[in-house]
Amino acid sequence: MKDENFTRLVKELQRKIDYEEEKTYSKTVINEYRNPNHFGILENPDATAKIKGSCGDTMKFSLKINNGIIKKVNFWTDGCGATIAAGNKLCKIILGKKIREAHKINNEKLIDALDGLPKEHNHCALLAVETFHKTIKNYIKLKKINGENLQ
Ligand code: FES
Repeated sequence: MKDENFTRLVKELQRKIDYEEEKTYSKTVINEYRNPNHFGILENPDATAKIKGSCGDTMKFSLKINNGIIKKVNFWTDGCGATIAAGNKLCKIILGKKIREAHKINNEKLIDALDGLPKEHNHCALLAVETFHKTIKNYIKLKKINGENLQ
């Protein structure tokens, strides 16, 4: 196959992939998935947690907390694009918030912030929320602070 034919084929394939993606996911999901600026693991975090979701994929959160405020947050996952979008959006929502406020995030709120997810990917957002909640639980345990009001 000549080079220009191959290039044309790749472009055509990419167009088809983009078209399918745009039919399935909101613009917000696609944007978060393509630009996951919170992807990674923080060095010397104040709290971390890792959870394996119902699909077998894993997510990890790492947080830097100062005076009860989330100063830095990253996530890592080996999951699908919807999970990357959910993890990144969740990081943006909680960054700069007090732990108590940030902890109010739930699956429904995260899906709303993503402008929806296909039903079969709701568990991907749940994985992000549960991993974040576990990270806070670990922080409370580690710092031996009273977390009663967080629930
Ligand atoms: Fe496993 Fe999305 S996290 S399918």
